[in-house]
Amino acid sequence: AFSPTPADRFSFGLWTVGWLGKDQFGDPTRSPLDPVEALERLADLGAWGLTFHDDDLIPFGSSDAEREAILARFRKALESTGMTVPMITTNLFTHPVFKDGGFTANDREVRRYAIRKVARNLDLAAELGAKTFVAWGGREGAESGAAKDVRNALDRMKEAFDLLAEYVLEQGYDIRFAIEPKPNEPRGDILLPTVGHALSFIERLEHPELFGVNPEVGHEQMAGLNFTHGISQALWAGKLFHIDLNGQNSIKYDQDLRFGNGDLRQAFWLVDLLERAGYAGPRHFDFKPPRTEDYDGVWASAAGCMRNYLILKERAAAFRADPEVQEALRVAKVDELAQPTLGAGETLADLRNQQDTPTADELAERGCAFERLDQLAMDHLLAAR
Ligand code: GCO
Ligand code: MN
Ligand code: MN
Ligand code: MN
Repeated sequence: AFSPTPADRFSFGLWTVGWLGKDQFGDPTRSPLDPVEALERLADLGAWGLTFHDDDLIPFGSSDAEREAILARFRKALESTGMTVPMITTNLFTHPVFKDGGFTANDREVRRYAIRKVARNLDLAAELGAKTFVAWGGREGAESGAAKDVRNALDRMKEAFDLLAEYVLEQGYDIRFAIEPKPNEPRGDILLPTVGHALSFIERLEHPELFGVNPEVGHEQMAGLNFTHGISQALWAGKLFHIDLNGQNSIKYDQDLRFGNGDLRQAFWLVDLLERAGYAGPRHFDFKPPRTEDYDGVWASAAGCMRNYLILKERAAAFRADPEVQEALRVAKVDELAQPTLGAGETLADLRNQQDTPTADELAERGCAFERLDQLAMDHLLAAR
């Protein structure tokens, strides 16, 4: 019942199952993974898509001939596995040239280099049929105050995105951008740190319609925020273009745990929201199989991401279908919030002139009945109902 199929639209970053386990303190614990093997293994597990940074597939500094050979082999494997490439992104963080960022590096030549790298990768995205281009500005930020004039940095960020949007329109590419927020790591502080910052930035661009967000579960939680609320606002704004699913335990380093590990209740409400909202985009996993694992552990971890999503989807549907839950939702007046506060044709003056309204003390006596509702959710989440 919890076996994924391509219809579930599960996708994985090549850098996730391909992470070798190198961290700040330790060397790699796994040997490199052939991208073709990644496609085959993920297809076997029931996944639908593979995403990647330019450099994940085509090593930085490859010659044009090497690049073409890698792509030819990769395309063949896409065909034989039936896997898709729904999203592509650009690595603007690994090479030392990006130590002060890409689009917002103080050094103008670095910014020019970064824009060229992204434009080239947009051509590849179009070639492979990717509809979403993720932009995670991991190195766009600072460790100290005087080093970065943030208002100028935002001007440069806007300049870069405006140029690239113009390029996509000129070329007639069917591609939209999804900006991925993160509060910190690898920079001390990263620009566009949360979903809210990114949503407001997008409205300042020349082609805001081409831009949405790619929120990652753990990144909002690193900032102590409620991820499901952030996703709700992105949906409300029509800006949830993509999503990075993973797990995180509270405010600490970016854990990138398997989806379902970390804050399980948040994961439950997230799946409930995505499914009820009819989110039609990829269910993309951006996690890191812990460096304790060999490749058996990597595939178990990847399978677990999808399985947990499907379990939570079933649990959330059972919660919504339970008559007792529906009654509890009514008692808690959850549906009443969908009602406009003023009646049709009613004015503020009408509202102010209304006679015999309940007093504040009378209204204050009403309980909200949220606890019973939440316990029902807990029962369903724990399969105790
Ligand atoms: C992180 C980020 C990255 C980006 C990815 C796309 O965990 O810090 O999520 O994994 O999503 O690199 O550019
Ligand atoms: Mn991510
Ligand atoms: Mn992360
Ligand atoms: Mn990540």
